[in-house]
Amino acid sequence: MGRLGFGVDIGGSGIKGAVVDLDTGALATERFKVLTPQPSTPPAVASAVAEVARNFAWQGAIGCTFPAVVRAGEARSAANVDRSWIGTNIEKVVGAATGSAVIAVNDADAAGVAEATWGAAKGQRGLVVVVTLGTGIGTALIYDGVLVPNSELGHLELEGVDYETKASAAARERDGLSWEKWAKRLQRYFSALEFYLSPELFVVGGGVSRRADKFLPLLKLEAHIVPASFQNEAGIIGAAYLAARPELDRESAGIDITSGRSPLVTP
Ligand code: BGC
Repeated sequence: MGRLGFGVDIGGSGIKGAVVDLDTGALATERFKVLTPQPSTPPAVASAVAEVARNFAWQGAIGCTFPAVVRAGEARSAANVDRSWIGTNIEKVVGAATGSAVIAVNDADAAGVAEATWGAAKGQRGLVVVVTLGTGIGTALIYDGVLVPNSELGHLELEGVDYETKASAAARERDGLSWEKWAKRLQRYFSALEFYLSPELFVVGGGVSRRADKFLPLLKLEAHIVPASFQNEAGIIGAAYLAARPELDRESAGIDITSGRSPLVTP
């Protein structure tokens, strides 16, 4: 087993964590899940994350996804979590509850990073749009392997409504839609994304990507469209990687992280 990291995925209904093998992107442990407390206020969610981290006796940095715009560690929106998160510094609140250094990142952006590093978007040049279909719709834009954060294209307004309310996986269940009927809404959504962005590739994630064979073949687009390699685990994996990256970067620069000195430099 190589280097390990730890990721936690904060969602509207569950909070899941796992240890991640940072050489391959695979989960190194089973996932551990607790239900998202309701109301999902900052203190309640932070102690749920601490419970997840305790289950693994994890000591190092924690990568934490959050289902909203995240800028400099702070939540700047709250579509599917308690509104009191807006303006709250996720890294500080979860850091205080867990006693660890915390890096917070939008959930779809974390998934995009995992897919670009090890998964369905690995090595893809040009623009990749990662779309996660779950309670909401999350999007990540990756250009030549580099993330452009906080794209929020799940809230594209089409037919006069925020289209997340019509095309998310939760909307399919809520409206009791067949795969075919849901695919019509997805077609509308992906055609709009394609018109605005002309990506080379769409990667579709979220739990429902397990059933990708039921709806992806029904979509007609110019870009390739493929299921995410890591399905619903991509967020945990990407967040763990982002939290560990400062240390990984120092290692690859040849700096001995125990002494802080480069082994290549003679004192
Ligand atoms: C939020 C996004 C999030 C997505 C998936 C949307 O409602 O605005 O920030 O990535 O849901 O959780």
